[in-house]
Amino acid sequence: MADRIYYPNAELAKTSYCNSMDQYKKMHEKSIKQPEEFWSKIAKQFYWETTSSNDKFFSYNFNRNEGDIFIKWMEGASTNISFNLLDKNVKCGNGDKIAFYWEGNDIEDYSRLTYRKLLEETCKFANVLKSKGVQKGDRVAIYMPMILELPIAMLACTRIGAVHSVIFAGYSSDSLAERVLDSKAKVLLTTDGAWRGSKLLHLKAICDQAMDKVKSHGHNVESCIVISHLRRVTCPPGNTSDGGKTKNGTSNGSSSEVNLSWDDDRDCWWHEEMEDADSSCYPVWVAAEDPLFILYTSGSTGKPKGVLHTTAGYLIYAATTFKYVFDYKPNDVYWCTADIGWITGHTYVVYGPLANGATSVLFEGTPFYPQNDRYWSVIDKYKVSQFYTAPTAIRSLMKFGDDLVKKYNLDSLKVLGSVGEPINSEAWLWFYYLIGHGKCSIVDTFWQTETGGHVVTPLPGATPMKPGSASFPFFGVLPELLDEDGKIIEGEGEGYLVFRQPWPGMMRSLYGNHERFQTTYFDKFNGFYCTGDGARRDSDGYFWVTGRIDDMLNVSGHLMSTAEVESVLAEHGAVAEAAVVSKPHPVKGQCLYCFITPNEGKNFDKQLQDELKKKIRERIGPFAQPDIIHHAPGLPKTRSGKIMRRILRKIAVGDRNVGDTSTLADEGIVDLLFQLRPEA
Ligand code: PRX
Repeated sequence: MADRIYYPNAELAKTSYCNSMDQYKKMHEKSIKQPEEFWSKIAKQFYWETTSSNDKFFSYNFNRNEGDIFIKWMEGASTNISFNLLDKNVKCGNGDKIAFYWEGNDIEDYSRLTYRKLLEETCKFANVLKSKGVQKGDRVAIYMPMILELPIAMLACTRIGAVHSVIFAGYSSDSLAERVLDSKAKVLLTTDGAWRGSKLLHLKAICDQAMDKVKSHGHNVESCIVISHLRRVTCPPGNTSDGGKTKNGTSNGSSSEVNLSWDDDRDCWWHEEMEDADSSCYPVWVAAEDPLFILYTSGSTGKPKGVLHTTAGYLIYAATTFKYVFDYKPNDVYWCTADIGWITGHTYVVYGPLANGATSVLFEGTPFYPQNDRYWSVIDKYKVSQFYTAPTAIRSLMKFGDDLVKKYNLDSLKVLGSVGEPINSEAWLWFYYLIGHGKCSIVDTFWQTETGGHVVTPLPGATPMKPGSASFPFFGVLPELLDEDGKIIEGEGEGYLVFRQPWPGMMRSLYGNHERFQTTYFDKFNGFYCTGDGARRDSDGYFWVTGRIDDMLNVSGHLMSTAEVESVLAEHGAVAEAAVVSKPHPVKGQCLYCFITPNEGKNFDKQLQDELKKKIRERIGPFAQPDIIHHAPGLPKTRSGKIMRRILRKIAVGDRNVGDTSTLADEGIVDLLFQLRPEA
């Protein structure tokens, strides 16, 4: 059944923006052959304070032999993103339209925000930022749960030309500090805390630790603005407030509060600052290629990469992919479950939907709280028409059985989206039949933090679907498959997935390190952007992304590098050496499998394993906790000392068929490692 082709629902196709493969092919061809014409027509839907001339609309260099890599769209144009997303929508009569339905961690907690109110709050907070000395080009770090103040804060940054750097609120204080330090953020925004299911996250306390660490490296965060979030939400049953003295602005004493330490010179409450802030703020017009945001993603050397996106190209690409890939229509309610701390949340919770005047759900909670049917209940509650989530979430919900889903109507759904990793056909079919009732299109969207928006994806009214295939390139995208020598693979085949030319939404650089940007993405194959993923093209021309082919792993849709985890493990006093590989996992997609060589005289025991797991949780974040720690008195290395990860991956899955081991310095180590394999 999985290799069957599933055609778009004819009803949906009737009204969709792109409703046939013929139309898709024509549009794609135009976008590649005449990119200026194609994108300038789209750009006309937005407001430009100054415009770009035709000869400067698009320029780039992907070839290092011809100088530095650069990508420029709409040179000479200037605009303001918050103006396009908010003022423009209010002016054209959408002021009273809901921009976001906010659904909290607890079902009792929900609210809504119209476009008019979002504009007002954005302007007020932009004025608060200005009062803290934030100016065009300054960096603002944001470490927050999924609450309405998060898009407000991001848009407030864009209002004044400041650059936001949102850091996922599941990261540890070390990871937060590293990112704040790299971007030299002037201001840090957070909340006192947040409930995640029935677990309390002490976000301000984590920020305090991070700010101390940043200070010890010579950088000072000048202001920390704190939202008093806990007092306004429901405290999960069985939990009470911490009791003690709280530093809380206007506590109404309703629910939970936490002890906060407070630096009067640096820390302030969001609600106090907002009280007297002016609700209008004239937008700062920024140049097309001025930075919009930095978003950190894992790098294979272990040091996170600050992916830099700029203004005009990102805006038109986010808007266009959202419109065509989700086929959003004016009365639809759209829901993307991704956290704004990741690129999916940036492009498809904030920028794409608002650029289209959409109504979205912003969800703070988890799929499992208070029950494992939360997603389905939210879909029915708001009559969601487009639902965008990750294969790992689908797989984790499949195991609770179909009855939990069948309690719900789910008939409002039209388009289902998947992102973050390849979707296995079992999960695809479950999504298609049980959630989509066999009438919704599934868009399996392949893209990356670096690509800014979808790059290989079906279009819901046009593309016949093959479960597990991201299918065809989006407008402006020209993928190729290359072999190890950089030779182009024509027709059917498998190789490195690369792109031949830039589309408007792709990254422009790595913050503060253009050289690393060039070597990471352009050195492997001169003239091409290298994704780091492998892909296969079938006889019908469909692309099937097979996963990373570098030292990155993808755990529940979180990308991390083996080097990052190894360097944390190696810091432990009992560890001489660590090697980390990925192992397939039924729910997470992949999990971390760590080989540890203890120092002379140190025991490899349960205590060490627990300490190592804890260390990873604390240093990187709970999502990075290893599943297996394997005792490795030695590692399989070549004579030149290179660890052969290919062999470790085989040992991790218990596959004795390890291939050629003749280049190993000590072939006996492979047998020993098999003997020491912990029972899976
Ligand atoms: O390996 C690919 C996988 O996720 C990587 C990008 O991760 P990140 O930058 O964190 O962004 C995730 C959200 C866009 C890719 O290099 N990936 C993402 N979507 C898919 C995918 N692999 C296969 N199919 C997808 N639909």
